[in-house]
Amino acid sequence: MKAEELVARTAQHVETLFAGEASGHDWWHIKRVWQNALRIGQQENVDLTVVQLGALLHDIADWKFNRGDEEAGPRAAREWLQTHQAPAELIEKVCQIIREVTFKGAGVDTTPSTLEAKVVQDADRLDAIGAIGVGRAFAYGGHKGREMYHPGQEPRLHASFEEYKKNQGPTLNHFYEKLFLLKDRFSTTAGRQLAQERHAFMVQFVQRFLEEWHGEEVPPAAFQLTNTP
Ligand code: ADP
Ligand code: NI
Repeated sequence: MKAEELVARTAQHVETLFAGEASGHDWWHIKRVWQNALRIGQQENVDLTVVQLGALLHDIADWKFNRGDEEAGPRAAREWLQTHQAPAELIEKVCQIIREVTFKGAGVDTTPSTLEAKVVQDADRLDAIGAIGVGRAFAYGGHKGREMYHPGQEPRLHASFEEYKKNQGPTLNHFYEKLFLLKDRFSTTAGRQLAQERHAFMVQFVQRFLEEWHGEEVPPAAFQLTNTP
C-alpha cells in the first residue's frame, strides 16, 4: 500500500474510533494535531509519512484511559499498521513517537529522540494551550468529575511520571502543573512561535477566572500568576 493511502486509511480508522468522544481526546483533537504536525513538519527536514501516522495514532490508546498502561498505545498502533503490511521500520518509528509524545510531569524531561517525534509532540502541545487548551482542560476535568478550582488545594510540580499519573487535583491546578510550563518546552522553531500567543491568551483567561472568583481578595500565593514560570 502506498504511504498516502495508509495515511488516509489511518485517518478514517481513527475518525471512526474517536467519533463523539467527550474528554477532549476526540477525533477533532486528532485532526487538529495532524494539521499542526503537517504545518510544523513542512518547515523541518522530516519524513512526513512518519509524522502523519504518529500524529494520527498518538492518542489511540492513551495511558490516561487504559489504567496507566503506557504500552497500550504503541501496541494498538502496531496491530493496526501490521494489518496493512506497513514496513517494520516504519511501525517502530511510529510506536516510538507514541511513547515519547506525552507529558510526564513538570520535573520530567520529555524531549523526544527524533525530529519526527518533536514535530508531533509540538503539534499535540499546541492543542493543549490557547482557547482550545482551556476548553479541553475543563472537558477533561468534567469527564473525570474534578472540581474547577479549589483555593486551598495548591498545584504540585510532579517530579515523576508515577506521581503525575496519580494526580486528581482541580482543573485550574493543571494549568500550573502542565499547561503554563509548555511554552518553554517546544522543540521546533515553528512550534515555539505558534505557542507564544496561545500561551498569552491562556494566562489572561486564568487571570480573569481568578479575578472573577476572588473579587477584591488576593488569590492564594500559589495561584498568583506572577509566580508562573
Ligand atoms: P499528553 O499526551 O501530553 O497528556 P494529550 O493529547 O493526551 O496530551 O492531552 C492531554 C490533555 O488532556 C491536556 O492538555 C488537558 O487538556 C487534558 N488533561 C490531562 N490531564 C488533565 C488534568 N489533570 N486536568 C485537566 N485537564 C487535563
Ligand atoms: Ni493528544
